[in-house]
Amino acid sequence: MNAPNGLQVVRSCVEAHTAVRSAQRQGLRVGLVPTMGALHEGHLSLVRRSRSDCGFTAVSIFVNPTQFAPHEDLAAYPRTLEQDLAKLRRLGVDLVFAPASGEMYPPGSTTFVDPPQVAATLEGERRPEHFRGVATIVLKLFQVLPADIAYFGHKDYQQTLVIRHMVQDLLAPIEIEVCPTVREADGLALSSRNVYLSAAERQRALAISRSLRHAQQSFIAGMRSAAELKHQMRSILEAAGLPEIDYLAVVDAHTLQEVAQAQEGVVVLIAARVGATRLIDNTVLRQQP
Ligand code: PAJ
Repeated sequence: MNAPNGLQVVRSCVEAHTAVRSAQRQGLRVGLVPTMGALHEGHLSLVRRSRSDCGFTAVSIFVNPTQFAPHEDLAAYPRTLEQDLAKLRRLGVDLVFAPASGEMYPPGSTTFVDPPQVAATLEGERRPEHFRGVATIVLKLFQVLPADIAYFGHKDYQQTLVIRHMVQDLLAPIEIEVCPTVREADGLALSSRNVYLSAAERQRALAISRSLRHAQQSFIAGMRSAAELKHQMRSILEAAGLPEIDYLAVVDAHTLQEVAQAQEGVVVLIAARVGATRLIDNTVLRQQP
């Protein structure tokens, strides 16, 4: 499938690999943006970044079954391929790789990546198989689309650490770039799962980013006790009707271990349920934001 304005959409690994290699043979730096589709401005910010850094941008769209637990939203996950392609075409993307499930997991495949230590806490603790699935598919995507650099969002902070460690440990010849979280004007972090929220739930979900902003302001005002920061954030979340907090953690940015005292660069992460929807968000505490 070759679109007239240059966006090539491919479904097979062989075609995808060939397209990337041929761009590199032409001397182009290749950027890769892995996604599960249902593209929003968060995804598109990664695409724009790749477009400005690289001569050739590839985007993968694949709802990866192995990173969803059986009770999670794999079947309901939004799939909007035609709209996604229109958005990517407008941005001047060169290649979209949108494989079928059997292309990424050939029948009988049983090999998985055992994710690094940083996968053990937070999301990994609540979603035990999640990062195994993420690490496996991302490594497969790096093989199929052997880009020079791949772009990921800070929104999924733990995921960026898992990928960085995997790349380092398994000697994957690719550079990793992490880009800032894109938010709605009212602070809500963009997420493909936001479409699940009713208007009332969306309103309640705002408490997540509000509590992170509050932590940031308290930190600037001199508060250092992680317990006190978490206590205040919990009050904000509960007052907004978000009692289902999966985790609320103040952690070292590299190890993800909880700290007792906040200092410049520590990360505050939240996962909370808003109705049936599970949302995550985070911020890095800075003296000068
Ligand atoms: P997905 O949730 O589609 O996200 C694709 C990329 O977009 C990830 O790097 C994610 O961190 C980034 N992203 C999502 N929301 C963002 C926001 N509001 N601002 C900036 N970036 C944002 O993450 C995945 O897919 C999958 O786990 C994947 C890596 C593709 C493996 O299947």
